[in-house]
Formats: sequence, C-alpha cells, structure tokens
Amino acid sequence: MVKIGDLEVGEFPLLLAPMEDVSDPPFRALCKEQGADVVYTEFISSEGLIRDAAKSVMKLDIYEKERPVGIQIFGAVLESMLRSVEIVEASGPDIIDINFGCPVKKVVSKGAGAGILKDIDLMVKLTEAMVKHTKLPVTVKTRLGWDHDSIKIVEVAERLQDVGCKAISIHGRTRAQMYKGDADWVPIAEVKNNPRMHIPVFGNGDVNSPERAMEMRDVYGLDGAMIGRASIGYPWFFREVKHYFETGTHLAPPTMVERVEAARRHLQMSIDWKGEKLGVFETRRHYTNYFKGIPDFKKYRMKMVTSDDSASVFEAFDEVLEKFGDFQFV
Ligand SMILES: Cc1cc2nc3c(=O)[nH]c(=O)nc-3n(C[C@H](O)[C@H](O)[C@H](O)COP(=O)(O)O)c2cc1C
Repeated sequence: MVKIGDLEVGEFPLLLAPMEDVSDPPFRALCKEQGADVVYTEFISSEGLIRDAAKSVMKLDIYEKERPVGIQIFGAVLESMLRSVEIVEASGPDIIDINFGCPVKKVVSKGAGAGILKDIDLMVKLTEAMVKHTKLPVTVKTRLGWDHDSIKIVEVAERLQDVGCKAISIHGRTRAQMYKGDADWVPIAEVKNNPRMHIPVFGNGDVNSPERAMEMRDVYGLDGAMIGRASIGYPWFFREVKHYFETGTHLAPPTMVERVEAARRHLQMSIDWKGEKLGVFETRRHYTNYFKGIPDFKKYRMKMVTSDDSASVFEAFDEVLEKFGDFQFV
C-alpha cells in the first residue's frame, strides 16, 4: 500500500495531474468516479491567495466526494508561501503540493515553478519551511531539472525527502524541453532506485495508454502514475488503466450514452459551481475529446462550443444521442 504521510492511496495509485483550467472540481469529481486515486487542483498562486484575489481563492473549492485531494500552490517568496499554506489549510485538503515544475515564462521569470530548479537550495528551504508550517502532508511536483546539462534529480529528491516532503511527482522532461520530445522515465527510476529514498516516487509524462502505465509500474518500478493530458475530456482513462492491470485486457471504450451523460454532468456541475456563463464557457474544451472519432460531428460540436446558454448545449447533447446513439467507438 502506497502512503503519502499517513494517507493510504492504493497499490499503484493513479493520480490526476494538476492542470490549469482543467483540474477543477467538476472534472476532478468525474476522474475520481472513474478510478483516480488522488486528484490535484490546478496550481494556485501564493501571491494571489494572500491578496485574496477572487480567482485564486475560488480554486480552493473542493468537494467531499473527490477526496483525497491535493491543493497545489506556487511561488518563490517564503513569507507568501507560508501565509498561503495557512489559507490552503483552512479549506481542508488532504495534501498540500508545491509546484516546482511549471515552465511558463511568467511563472519562471519570478523564480517560481520550474524557475526554482536554478536554485535548489531555495527549493529545499521553501519545502522545509512549508512542511514545518502545516500538519498536512506536503508533496512536491517537479521536472528532471532546468536543462539537460543540469539534471540532479536524484540528489534533489533526496534532499526534499530529508526535509519532510512526503511524496514526489516527477515529470520526465526538463524545463528547457517544455512539452517537446518524449518524457524520459529513466532518471525517475534512478530516483526510485536510490536506496536512501523511502517516500513514494510518482512518474509523470506521456502516460497515454494502459500499457504505458503498466510499463511505469513494472519496468521502471515507480510507485504510481500521474496522468495529465490523457484524461482531458476522457476521465475513463483511469478505469481503463485499472481494468488492464486487473485483467490484462482492454476495456471497451465508453458508449455514447456514457459520454453524453458525462458531458451533461460535467456541464451541470460547472454551472452549479461557477454559474451559467463561466460554467458554459469553461466546459467547452472538454467536448472535443468526449466525442472524438464521430464522423460528421462538426455541426454538433460547433453548437456545443459556441452556444452561450446552457439550454442550447444540453439540447446539442440530446441531438447527439438521438443521431449517434448507436455509434460504436473503437
Ligand atoms: C493544460 C495543462 C495545464 C497544466 N497545468 C499545470 C499546473 O497547474 N500545475 C502543474 O504542476 N502542472 C501543470 N501541467 C503539467 C501536467 O501536470 C503534467 O506534468 C504534464 O502535462 C505531463 O503529463 P502528461 O503527459 O500526462 O500530460 C499542465 C499541463 C497541461 C496540459
């Protein structure tokens, strides 16, 4: 049984990756229902939180049904990070995760996200201070290093463990790679194989099939798989991986009825959470994947992604069910 602190999270847990504008409460709830063992919020700015910026604060919302849930924060200023730990704690997550991996310029230029990979001492210092400041387990998500020539992830992971980090998720790319090339899981396995390492090491990057998840477990020997893009608009990915682990066979893809049902619930939960306008707008990005592979679908997709009112989107779902109800997905 893999444990994050005292929290038991399964044999080879599947973790929903933190994804900006994707890993919101409705989507996390759907992934949880489909087998995700741990879900993470998108990253939340510590500076935004301490200034009580509405956008950041709203990201702290969690549903009981999605537990265990980790709230991810980012920043590079000790005082802001500590104050935001208190704010995060008050909203009752099971885990606090620190983002030391975001590669985007506006984050990195402030020394946050992957920017901190240029200053490992600060990374360790921030982690230590945050661990001491909360009773919740603190986990870290990071990349292999700043660039190919500066990969020191084995040493970095050990130092984070030594200051009390309870699990580490490693995306098998450097900051310099952004999202290019293939994720390299070899250095992640080196972290896991370090005899001094005893906290869970989760692999991340390009887990896009049940076979790849199994490879991460059996060939690379990691403790769990963190899954991002493969789940966008496809929360069934989690159950497909689990089914493959249990039976060695592939589960049939979700039927049209299941897809329409998921899309409906996703939209309804988003509206309940954020209101009609934002709910309709922010659920749009998921539909393409929910309904991928259906020929002559453009008319329906356009209605889903251009309508400003939920009634029209729900109507489009009904039309899809009526017209394509028997469609066989492969
Ligand atoms: C749309 C999108 C948003 C992301 N936002 C975050 C984020 O908020 N925090 C974070 O740690 N990583 C973020 N990531 C990175 C993912 O968590 C993950 O590390 C990366 O996508 C590689 O995993 P994958 O190949 O399974 O997608 C994001 C990725 C995507 C595609």
